[in-house]
Amino acid sequence: MKQLAVFLAFALIIFIYACGGSGDNSSADKPAPKSMIEEPAADDGKGVGEIKEVSLNSPLKPAMVEKGKAIYEMKCAACHKLSDQRVVGPGWKGITERRKPEWIMNMATNVDIMLEKDPAAQALLKECLVRMPNQNLSIGDARDVLEFMYANDGQEVGN
Ligand code: HEC
Repeated sequence: MKQLAVFLAFALIIFIYACGGSGDNSSADKPAPKSMIEEPAADDGKGVGEIKEVSLNSPLKPAMVEKGKAIYEMKCAACHKLSDQRVVGPGWKGITERRKPEWIMNMATNVDIMLEKDPAAQALLKECLVRMPNQNLSIGDARDVLEFMYANDGQEVGN
């Protein structure tokens, strides 16, 4: 019973969050002055944010996988399953094949800007109808989570 109450409270928070933030869009349909219109950058699939280039480990580093798993369980598991099943957000199975590592890390560390500017992130938001809240991950934490995602997708972990 208590668990149900906690779940309902959580669902409510997500609901409020999902529906919030639309109030300040009143200027959205006014055309921006020419000087403010940015040339759309060619979409390289790496997303928008600080992460421009990620070098991957092969085999994966076990300590990073472990740390990534702990962060996942603490901060991400409520909304992301490790299977391909969607709960609040998309399941993570196969994510490392669908997305570039830079995109994944930018999404994890810079979600608000990604949802504002990145077409793939915007498409996900349309599908899921919920905005992923900023998780305040450091870049190091996001890199560990990425390592864990590769392990979840079956890449070899070293020893
Ligand atoms: C409150 C729910 C919630 C939590 C917690 C959450 N996410 Fe998300 N996540 C979402 C939603 C919803 C989306 C779909 C895009 C959107 O609407 O923002 C998403 C999308 C993503 C994507 C893109 C998925 C894909 O299939 O391309 C990544 C990567 C991601 N989240 C990483 C993380 C990480 C890393 C954490 C933990 C540190 C985390 N998320 C925690 C809700 C959440």
